[in-house]
Amino acid sequence: TVSNVHAVEILDSRSRPTLAVTLETDSGIHVRAGVPAGASTGTREAVELRDGDPHRFLGQGVLKAAASVNGEILQTLRGRSFATLTDLDQALIDLDGTENKSRLGANAIVGVSIAAARAFAETAGVPLWRSFVGEVNEPRMPVPHFNVINGGVHALNELDFQEFMIAPIGAPNMAEAVRAGSEVYTALRKILHEQGMAVGLGDEGGFAPEIAQPEDALDLLVKAIGAAGYTPGLDGIAIAMDPASSELYHDGAYHVAGTVFSSDEMIERYAQIVDRYPVWLLEDGLAESDWDGWQRLTDRLQEKVELVGDDIFCTNPKIIAEAIEKHVGNASLIKVNQIGTVTETLEAMRVARDGGYAQFVSHRSGETEDSFIADLTVGTGAGHLKTGAPARGERVAKYNRLVEIADSVELPYGL
Ligand code: PGA
Ligand code: ZN
Repeated sequence: TVSNVHAVEILDSRSRPTLAVTLETDSGIHVRAGVPAGASTGTREAVELRDGDPHRFLGQGVLKAAASVNGEILQTLRGRSFATLTDLDQALIDLDGTENKSRLGANAIVGVSIAAARAFAETAGVPLWRSFVGEVNEPRMPVPHFNVINGGVHALNELDFQEFMIAPIGAPNMAEAVRAGSEVYTALRKILHEQGMAVGLGDEGGFAPEIAQPEDALDLLVKAIGAAGYTPGLDGIAIAMDPASSELYHDGAYHVAGTVFSSDEMIERYAQIVDRYPVWLLEDGLAESDWDGWQRLTDRLQEKVELVGDDIFCTNPKIIAEAIEKHVGNASLIKVNQIGTVTETLEAMRVARDGGYAQFVSHRSGETEDSFIADLTVGTGAGHLKTGAPARGERVAKYNRLVEIADSVELPYGL
């Protein structure tokens, strides 16, 4: 039985306000959740409630969302017991009453949902990851995708593509994968410094050097992988990219480093990149509104790369189903706060799985030390996740949790 739910406004990793939610039961369980927040958000994401009061945090305060938790949500949950997380999440969805969770705020709802997932696991006496076993795929340790070069809206450099990740697909296990990520990150830092470039960081802890062309970032990664003693490619360390191209799309065209590209020109550029570099995954290669372009991108590259939809799918089961029907992409990014409850997130993963689409679990650029997605990824067997650089507390919280899970149980590693 839920005895208390409480939210307080705290800071995220970008110094913007977010929520910490605590949930208590009358059996003495006390759990907590930190709510993530994005910067390059899809327009069809569940709505994050921000105060809009210019005198506090430039309008970014979340006191209204906190009030949703401390008022209506508390009143609805207190004294009630729920058989499953699905029942509890449904009560939140019903209470909100909107399609996109805009009334109470997806940030309020997701904080309660994550805390509740923890409470159910604790009640069952199992580690959090185990509570997701049976929901999607067989449990496994995921390939971590470390975002080591940041651009786009996550950094103030001239690089328009948002994320360049290294993925130790060939690593033998979780601990070795994290070691590889750390060693390449450190090698990259040295290379940047030797080339006279800045080693300041972007929002996800990757470096934000003064480069503009995506190929320059890829050259740096290949060099760093080699310098750290690893092999670039699927047998060793592969590369993944998230151009977050909805952010590059204006007036029906893509703007990259001062040049304007059509959808087909972008596809051609990606095809060349895939031929030249060990890029195995491309997320949001085209904009969320460019479904025609996405279909052509899928036809052209689906055999060679995992084509992940993030802003275009928004972890929304209905949109993912539509994408499967239209052959748009072959994988879905999975962000809990894009859809707003853990239950709907699991549903999105099942829809993707049933359509033959891979599931790529993700953090947000604004994060807290909450490591929920590490457990979610293991228990659902999603096979891969991205949660930033192998540096900075809010990012390593997730990677460290993965290492600890791997240390506690024998599970296969990999895609
Ligand atoms: P966001 O970016 O968290 O700022 O939305 C992450 C992504 O685009 O994958
Ligand atoms: Zn993305």
